[in-house]
Amino acid sequence: MSDAVQKMRLDRLLANMGYGSRKDIQALVKHSRITLDGVAVSDADMHVAVSADLSARLRVAGAALDPPPGFIVMLHKPLGVTCSHKEAGPLVYDLLPNRWRARKPAISTVGRLDKETSGLLLMTDDGALLHRIIAPKSNVTKRYRATLARPLRGDEAHTLAAGTLMLDGESKPLLPAEMQIVADPAASEPVVEVTLSEGRYHQVRRMFAALGNHVTALHRISIGALTLPDDLDAGTFCSLSPDQTSAIFQ
Ligand code: URA
Repeated sequence: MSDAVQKMRLDRLLANMGYGSRKDIQALVKHSRITLDGVAVSDADMHVAVSADLSARLRVAGAALDPPPGFIVMLHKPLGVTCSHKEAGPLVYDLLPNRWRARKPAISTVGRLDKETSGLLLMTDDGALLHRIIAPKSNVTKRYRATLARPLRGDEAHTLAAGTLMLDGESKPLLPAEMQIVADPAASEPVVEVTLSEGRYHQVRRMFAALGNHVTALHRISIGALTLPDDLDAGTFCSLSPDQTSAIFQ
């Protein structure tokens, strides 16, 4: 969210956050079910400053307020869910609280991971932040761990670093990418980590296809200097602190 703190009518804010219609919010106020700093709110049309600390100050029906507008979360995306609002089958949005589906502005994924890719996925309702993360000029890198179907040839890291590799059907070579070997290059299924500074469609899988190999498992470890924590289980998410959000751009 931008630094300027916006003020908003409480009933409009809560309606936009999926807590019901403005009439529903007015009814909650009437029954003293909304408190600010421990005191029951008496006017649904009071103006409140929309800042991150509102979650700690405002309670709705006894529970802490959801993250106010301008928030970002990291989800540990499990395998088998799709980064889409409308495709058939399980969607990443199904992993968020139900109420969040009704939020305005809506929550979107920051870029996408394939259905069969797991790992760090950012989701936000802040369009300006989303665009800043994906803008090429921000140069936000993404790190992936890939398991390959065949032993390495030995020239892969060099070819990727050279920035000359062409993907099938494309006219511009890939930007230079870093590759490190994590587990035995001669193994029948070597594991590598790659760091990319662009995000083309199915890039990691197509990159290794262009190198004569095949990705059998793919997991995103980090975005910029923000790394998926070991204790964030697949299918769960947490809000980013301001420091974690800054780490994206480091
Ligand atoms: N590259 C891929 O091939 N798939 C992803 O999900 C992300 C990067």
